[in-house]
Amino acid sequence: MLDWNTAEDRNTEQATAGATGLENIELGARRVQVDDKKIINCRADLNQLVPFKYRWAWEKYLAGSENHWMPQEIPMGRDIELWKSRDGLSEDERTIVKRNLGFFSTADSLVANNLVLAVYRHITNPECRQYLLRQAFEEAVHTHAYQYVIESLSMDEGEVFNMYREVPSVAAKAEWALPYTQSLGDPNFVTGTPEDDQRLLRDLIAFYVVFEGIFFYTGFAQVLSLGRRNKMTGTAEQFQYILRDESMHMNFGIDVINQIKLENPELWTPAFQQEMRDLVLEGMELEIAYARDTMPRGVLGMNGDMMAEYLHFIANRRLVQIGLPEAFPGAENPLPWMSEIMDLKKEKNFFETRVTEYRTGGALSWD
Ligand SMILES: [Fe+2]
Ligand SMILES: [Fe+2]
Repeated sequence: MLDWNTAEDRNTEQATAGATGLENIELGARRVQVDDKKIINCRADLNQLVPFKYRWAWEKYLAGSENHWMPQEIPMGRDIELWKSRDGLSEDERTIVKRNLGFFSTADSLVANNLVLAVYRHITNPECRQYLLRQAFEEAVHTHAYQYVIESLSMDEGEVFNMYREVPSVAAKAEWALPYTQSLGDPNFVTGTPEDDQRLLRDLIAFYVVFEGIFFYTGFAQVLSLGRRNKMTGTAEQFQYILRDESMHMNFGIDVINQIKLENPELWTPAFQQEMRDLVLEGMELEIAYARDTMPRGVLGMNGDMMAEYLHFIANRRLVQIGLPEAFPGAENPLPWMSEIMDLKKEKNFFETRVTEYRTGGALSWD
């Protein structure tokens, strides 16, 4: 027997949800115009990249491609020697390396799964999808980088990859983020109502602003700080390239969030703004707890209090980037060198070890 309610619901859903790109081809249909394009709930053909509406998305795709790198190009010999030598690193420094590999090795897979299984389907714009595909590949490169470091240092893989299920401060961050992606992972979920569009926006803010924009920053600061002291320079260089990619991911996500707000102002209610502010600050508190757990004492010229100050500064910036007021007026950046590293161009890499250039590409021979 037919379930009429369900069929009716489905029809309503199809009337409001966006295109997927897998619809039947409509011969002779009207050509796609720039004004037909929208980030969410767009019904225009998603298989046509141009005409561009969101040039910022295409430009980020090009910039990401110009920054191409692979983990195995970075020499790890000095790191292996230092990691194996008995008094090369202090116990606190070793904790930092292990905890961060534990967090990042699974975190980047979680980000990739959120992109591919939850977000991609609902972003109904081809130039944004082009960037999402680039980002998904970069997340695979990042997971590869952690695996490469773990293997190079002959670490216990089981211990590292299970840390997000065994070390509370590592688990807390992944556990916090999961409900936001699970909410969208339901195969029957579609956008098209204010409530469902807010669900997507909430997931985008949780992953782009908090996960990639806050949860990565203690680890980046700690590992890059080792590199600045000439320790674990190969690992630090991997993290430096990852940080550059991640700041692009976050900026893309913020552009998408702000564009959705612009096109759907009814979603950005005072109650939703308050909820998003609380969400960012909740993430920041988890990151401060992670910083204190990974630095029980002062190490590398940093400590838990300094990292809390840094995270106040970062949270302020993230709030302002999505159009919300600062939560910690006057908070200053105690780690100004982090911004310098993020601004570096590929040609001037921080540790000066990588030699491969991609810009020219490899020539194919037909002989
Ligand atoms: Fe990543
Ligand atoms: Fe990322």
